[in-house]
Amino acid sequence: MLILGIDTSCDDTSASVVEDGTRIVSNVISNQAEIHKKYGGIVPELASRRHIEMIWPVVDEALKTAGINLEDLSCFAVCHGPGLIGSLLVGCSFAKAVCYSKQVPLVAVNHLEGHIFSSFLGEPQPSFPFLALIVSGGHTCLYRVGGFSRYKELGRTRDDAAGEAYDKVSKLLGLGYPGGPVIDRLAQDGDPKAIDFPRAYLPDSMDFSFSGLKTAVLNYLRRMQDAGYKMRDKDIVHPASCIRHRDISDIAASFQASVIDVLVRKTEWAIKKECIKRVVLSGGVAANSELRERMKDMCEEMGAGIYIPSASLCTDNAAMIAAAGFHHFGMKKFAGLDLNPKAYLPL
Ligand code: KG4
Ligand code: ZN
Repeated sequence: MLILGIDTSCDDTSASVVEDGTRIVSNVISNQAEIHKKYGGIVPELASRRHIEMIWPVVDEALKTAGINLEDLSCFAVCHGPGLIGSLLVGCSFAKAVCYSKQVPLVAVNHLEGHIFSSFLGEPQPSFPFLALIVSGGHTCLYRVGGFSRYKELGRTRDDAAGEAYDKVSKLLGLGYPGGPVIDRLAQDGDPKAIDFPRAYLPDSMDFSFSGLKTAVLNYLRRMQDAGYKMRDKDIVHPASCIRHRDISDIAASFQASVIDVLVRKTEWAIKKECIKRVVLSGGVAANSELRERMKDMCEEMGAGIYIPSASLCTDNAAMIAAAGFHHFGMKKFAGLDLNPKAYLPL
């Protein structure tokens, strides 16, 4: 059974053909990073305009790579939120129009549900129940997943998402957008203990908070500037004395250590509290090499199974939407032509 997934929730236009909810036949992503780079973040209006230009070519390429026509599809699965409303509208309007004209069933998938189901696109697949930590640019949430459509939120960020913190810190360091991959690379050469940035553990809560950490990095850089230091390439140096204060990689590694310590510790708490020994880690930040390793180590110590999709399936993609859509189809949860995307859409 072939499903075409579509994701236009943020800045990537993606279409994918997935067989039986688990096997990727094609997965095409048109990335907009080049367009938004100079603004240091996503410009929603530019994102939706680019989606309009790219949606047909991306879907066409997904079908051609899979060697199929629209008529071969059993169903369309489209992401209807949460996300940027103008971007979501492009994917939803397109999917509705094609489904109407070709008389193909349509299912609507929550983007977060998609991130959870990206773990079904590889081997081994997790069995229910499991814990799911979704760490992306827009979300940091921890769920107890009891089965298809059975999600209990255990915690969420009270302010910035982890990926948002990466992107903002990257901007402060002049490293551009998106910040996650570049901080990930730099941190590999830095000392994670160089600067003791705060860790918001929020005792007795499964919630997260990353805005204080971002402010701590900002204050640290301001103190350096007040002392006369300037950022030059990848160093912070004093122009008069040419004394090198420290390498930017130390700041990246110390910031990243704070984020990862909290994510790993909270997941460990959830394993104990919920007595569930299976963890799915997904979302763009789950592409982070250090987070993947630290989460694997913690799960091994706890005797828990860890399921992390390949890095390219952690960041936004349409294969995960098709994977989740497969279960909506199985449960006959179809969407009508009155489907409207929602910027805010809890699971
Ligand atoms: O899941 P995603 O592609 O989009 C959203 O649903 O938000 O996540 C994008 C986020 C961005 O904030 C990006 O900086 C971050 O994921 N990211 C990373 C890495 N790759 C992407 N963060 C840390 N390390 C990475 N390697
Ligand atoms: Zn996402």
